[in-house]
Amino acid sequence: MKLIADQYGRSFKTLRVSLLNKCNLGCTYCSIGDENESLIKSLPRREKLPADRLLSIIEQLHKYLQLKTIRLTGGEPLLYPELIEVIEGVKTMGIPEIKLTTNGFLLKRLAEPMKVAGMQSINVSLDAVDENVFFLISKRNNVQRILDGIDKALDTGLQVKINSVVMKGMNDSQVLPLLEYAFKRGVTIRFLEVMAMGHLHREPEKYLFPQVDLLEVIGQKYEFHRLHRQDSATANYWQTSEGFTFGIIANESEPFCHDCNRLRLDSQGNVYGCLSDNHPISLLNVHDDEDLQPKLEQALQQKQRLKFTGSELSMLEIGG
Ligand code: 5AD
Repeated sequence: MKLIADQYGRSFKTLRVSLLNKCNLGCTYCSIGDENESLIKSLPRREKLPADRLLSIIEQLHKYLQLKTIRLTGGEPLLYPELIEVIEGVKTMGIPEIKLTTNGFLLKRLAEPMKVAGMQSINVSLDAVDENVFFLISKRNNVQRILDGIDKALDTGLQVKINSVVMKGMNDSQVLPLLEYAFKRGVTIRFLEVMAMGHLHREPEKYLFPQVDLLEVIGQKYEFHRLHRQDSATANYWQTSEGFTFGIIANESEPFCHDCNRLRLDSQGNVYGCLSDNHPISLLNVHDDEDLQPKLEQALQQKQRLKFTGSELSMLEIGG
């Protein structure tokens, strides 16, 4: 076996692929700019890799690492013109779990073709169910469009989870409405502590709504107990006395670096072993395992021991 692992036993089993660094929402935590103006800004146009090139890199990684999970992200992956080809290609490689993270705006149209191509499970980012709060966070109207997309995805038989980034003073009023929306549909919801990425990089505390506060808000209405954490999981989970499950991705309060198994591939063909240390490692000129091995070892070295330490790049750039 050529498997690599670091001194803490961490290896790469999950590959997150950012298909492109464009998004059709302008969420506060990703975009730069004055809160009063539209945050939807065009990032410098950089070439994204075409599907065949991307698939050959993924295949090379899979042959070396025997990946268990692939997650397509962006930017917004549903904007990638050859999305369906990528899903089909990944399925052909035999990677057991194919997942995707989306803002849901184009989901109504794409849920079915994605399912047919081999997609199993999607995470939909939804930070508010109230239209005004949704606008405040995303600078877009029409949250209903995302809710329709979620319904369509569920009808199609895709597994759906909801991700809600909670920002103090912006959408913390939405915790219970979001929770209830998810419970009604029998969908698992995870609340995310905001990470100090991109323009928030120097102000990690400004919008942080920590796990204790989330639990306190939910505790006003529900009784719950904590569930056992799975290895390499990002979320902590609780179950309410009614049997509903919710999670918290407590990047700040309860970091989960110690058994992180994620490798990231961006839309330019660079890998990163960690969100905190984002020096790109290019795989564009890698031809065989001998070339690949030192790159992966370098990526593994990037992993933090204890916790996320901030990143000047936003998720838009490096992949969510
Ligand atoms: N902090 C926390 N979550 C973030 N996301 C994007 N940027 C941040 C941030 N700075 C979320 C997206 C998506 C997931 C991949 O990460 O909303 O749900």
